[in-house]
Amino acid sequence: MKDGVLVIDFGGQYAHLIARRIRELGRFSRIVSAEASISDIVSEARSSYGVVLSGGPGSVWSGAHDEVARAVIKLEIPVLGICYGHQLLGRVLGGSVSRSPNPEFGPTIVDVIKSEGILQGLPDRVRVWMSHNDAVLEPPPGAEVLAVSRGSPVAAFRLGSVYGVQWHPEVSHSEYGLKVLENWLRITGAPRNWDPGDMVNNLIDMVRGMVGGGRAIAAVSGGVDSTVAALIAKKALGDRLVPVFIDHGLHPAGEVEWVSRTLSSIGLKPVVVDASSDFLEALRGVTDPEEKRRVIGRIYGEVLVREAVDVGAEYLVQGTIYPDVIESGARAGADVIKTHHNVGGLPENLGLKLVEPLKWFYKDEVRIIAKKLGVPVSIIEKKPVPGPGLAVRIEGEVTEWKVEVARRADRIVREEIESAGLDKGLWQYFAVLSGSKATGVKGDSRSYGWVIVVRAVESVDAMTANPARLPWDVLERIASRITSEIPVVSRVVYDITSKPPATIEWE
Ligand code: XMP
Repeated sequence: MKDGVLVIDFGGQYAHLIARRIRELGRFSRIVSAEASISDIVSEARSSYGVVLSGGPGSVWSGAHDEVARAVIKLEIPVLGICYGHQLLGRVLGGSVSRSPNPEFGPTIVDVIKSEGILQGLPDRVRVWMSHNDAVLEPPPGAEVLAVSRGSPVAAFRLGSVYGVQWHPEVSHSEYGLKVLENWLRITGAPRNWDPGDMVNNLIDMVRGMVGGGRAIAAVSGGVDSTVAALIAKKALGDRLVPVFIDHGLHPAGEVEWVSRTLSSIGLKPVVVDASSDFLEALRGVTDPEEKRRVIGRIYGEVLVREAVDVGAEYLVQGTIYPDVIESGARAGADVIKTHHNVGGLPENLGLKLVEPLKWFYKDEVRIIAKKLGVPVSIIEKKPVPGPGLAVRIEGEVTEWKVEVARRADRIVREEIESAGLDKGLWQYFAVLSGSKATGVKGDSRSYGWVIVVRAVESVDAMTANPARLPWDVLERIASRITSEIPVVSRVVYDITSKPPATIEWE
């Protein structure tokens, strides 16, 4: 049976954006890495209404993906190549691809020559978003050129059921971008049947089907993903589901109580396991950020297994979402930027059977499901707290006193930003205990204390972020409170780095 549309990922961030847009247009989409085996890609493509070859950072000259493209074209289902995918199709179908005489980056004018097929309904001229050095200079034999631009003599083409487009219709800066994607989806015949809000009953049935009459624990954190996963499992299993909240001793001030209280209010009263001494013990002497994550993941797994044995559960319900699955797994070509604790940091085999009801969903879709299930807004809109908590906000070794310093500084940052009413516009705001010391003067004497870093960023999806332009008086109040209320701190600095090149967290 066919199901939705397949997006082949050639690297970069494009594939997820395309897959999300397709879902916004009501069709299911899934991603497969271009580095997967040809037979896997072909079998996924066979069960899809159409295949998108995404953009990517590489150059088609290497020939690395010719075989993938040929295998997909041979299936004779609708294919759409975007940017790198467009050039790849142009190349394997016999067109000429080379360096463009006018590489195009950013807003670009495209002339539509034939407003048909994927360009149906477009005006003669559109302003779109491009990002390319190479271009299809000659169309493949027999192909129709549908659009041109200054740097792309073949900005869009059609050959039978294969379309290529040099610009990025998935990017919001491209005029008529959604129209281009909708036109193509109509050509594929993929049914418009994707509505995450409608899936709730299916998900409950799915969990019931997996767990049968067994018992499960749900690892909850107070974030929207784990809450929704646990709530679905609760509805499926009733008392056979035990929500477990592990206190690793690295949570921000008040977090453990808040999570416990808020989850209890929606029928998910968690068993709170105080395992802080296990974590601190295991973290002793560990300074490498990735090693810290691995240690925390390992202990987290051990504590979970202990709890599962205690309640006689053989299943573990987790709030893994689609980008987690794709990012921590299959991308052979991509570097692991950070091991994300909710997946990457957990040991592979805990001996528990995993139940991941949200593993096909994007964050905004999880929020839709959350609303449907009556999850409180305070959870749906909660600022993200990284799984390893303050451990990634303490440079170097994590010790009890450092956690206390970081927690107190963090509380001050939060109080001041929230009382100034600035929290709504920010993605995250927190304090970091740096590994540096600096000279200060307190009273009449010289002091040599720790440096606290304040970080506050604006972001849409955490892929990129800008430092917030906090009002000076708020920053001054933060600095003055931290240095006076925490005697071991002599200096407060504000982090003004964007992401990229920096990440949001310090480790
Ligand atoms: P970075 O620091 O990579 O963070 O710019 C992007 C977003 O992810 C959160 N983050 C984490 N979340 N485990 C998590 O569950 C982690 O190890 C982790 N590291 C970063 C971070 O807070 C930000 O929202």
